[in-house]
Amino acid sequence: MAASRSNLTTNKAHTQQQSYMKKNRRSIGVLTSGGDCPGLNAVIRGLVKTASYLGYRVVGFELGFEGLANPLRYQILDMKNTSGILNQGGTILGATNKGRFGATKGISDRIVIEPALLAEAKKNIEELEIDGLVCIGGDGSLAIAQQLLENGIPVIGVPKTIDNDLSSTAFSFGFDSAIACATDALDRLHTTASSHGRVMVLEVMGRHAGWIALHSGIAGGGDVILIPEIPWTFENVCAKIVHRQNMGKQFTLVVVAEGAELPGGTLVVQESVINAQVRLGGLGEIVAKEIQTRMGVEAQCVVLGQLQRGGSPTPFDRALASQYGAHSVRLVEEERFGEMVTYNPPHVGSIAISKAIHRLSTVDPQGSAVVAAKALGIAFGDTSGYTNPFPQSHVLAKAEAEKYNRASMNSGL
Ligand code: F6P
Repeated sequence: MAASRSNLTTNKAHTQQQSYMKKNRRSIGVLTSGGDCPGLNAVIRGLVKTASYLGYRVVGFELGFEGLANPLRYQILDMKNTSGILNQGGTILGATNKGRFGATKGISDRIVIEPALLAEAKKNIEELEIDGLVCIGGDGSLAIAQQLLENGIPVIGVPKTIDNDLSSTAFSFGFDSAIACATDALDRLHTTASSHGRVMVLEVMGRHAGWIALHSGIAGGGDVILIPEIPWTFENVCAKIVHRQNMGKQFTLVVVAEGAELPGGTLVVQESVINAQVRLGGLGEIVAKEIQTRMGVEAQCVVLGQLQRGGSPTPFDRALASQYGAHSVRLVEEERFGEMVTYNPPHVGSIAISKAIHRLSTVDPQGSAVVAAKALGIAFGDTSGYTNPFPQSHVLAKAEAEKYNRASMNSGL
């Protein structure tokens, strides 16, 4: 049977595309490093789809950077085996937090990765003919990627962390899902706390940044938010509880960021892990006990822990992660190695990884979110009562008005 004209055209185009793919076959590597978070699979899917349409083979390295060194662990990813993972939590590639490649100790301490290990990874990448390696990770993982780059491995970074503490990007994927989880927890604690007239303390993650506590605290109607960026005292926290009692509210919700320091400056840590990276946690329990002792009210603590990292990504995170996946391939195409994709609304752009890991993005105590929270009556434990959060703008506005009036008078209006 003779083929129709349109079929012939389609077949010809298909053959042309296939021969293009054969001649220009290139490979992209991808890995997911550090603590997992919702949206990793959405990035992988976005990357694989984009790369496949452009004719790339995609090599997915397993267990983060660990998969690059011997014993080499990878799988070939295609549209078929990454289908249906957009809304799945976790990562189909597995992840390792630190491991042999650990390149950070604390907030700013950097560790030099073993040269033999880097050489081994480089050799494996060259043998697999990888044109660009997309490293999906947070600050610690991108510090590893930077060392790979400095050793001649062509890397591209994708910002991932529930902590949202990477500078240069307004959002890392995973953050919105973590806030959704913490907000849901606060909604639940709200009803039980009010039924029993208790103080409920919710300890959330975030490492040395208070973003999760701040945003979920506002979204979940928290009464007190304790974050690393704002020094606080027990006296001020108790004053807020008393204030609420005087207003007829017998319950209080306190949101505590795991990285907030105790008054006096002590960080509460659980234990030390590989490469002396500390695991934070325990502040919530201390806060609850102290409130109970000082005030004689019933105070309980809930630690949200890894729940914030599990489950399906929010629609925002799915969309962001998919964009990151697609744009990471664009950066490989444009040979912009050593850059990390960024999202500063409304644009997805990029920046040198070395700049992105230079410093952590933390909450500005004078920033609009904190000011708004204070205006809503949320206490941060830094004052004993409500203080006008807008004095500066009030003074400025008054000065502006006076300037305008003077100018009007001078102009004879
Ligand atoms: O960086 C993400 C994060 O979840 C932090 O908020 C938390 O402090 C840390 O990882 C926990 O890491 P791990 O899973 O190794 O305990």
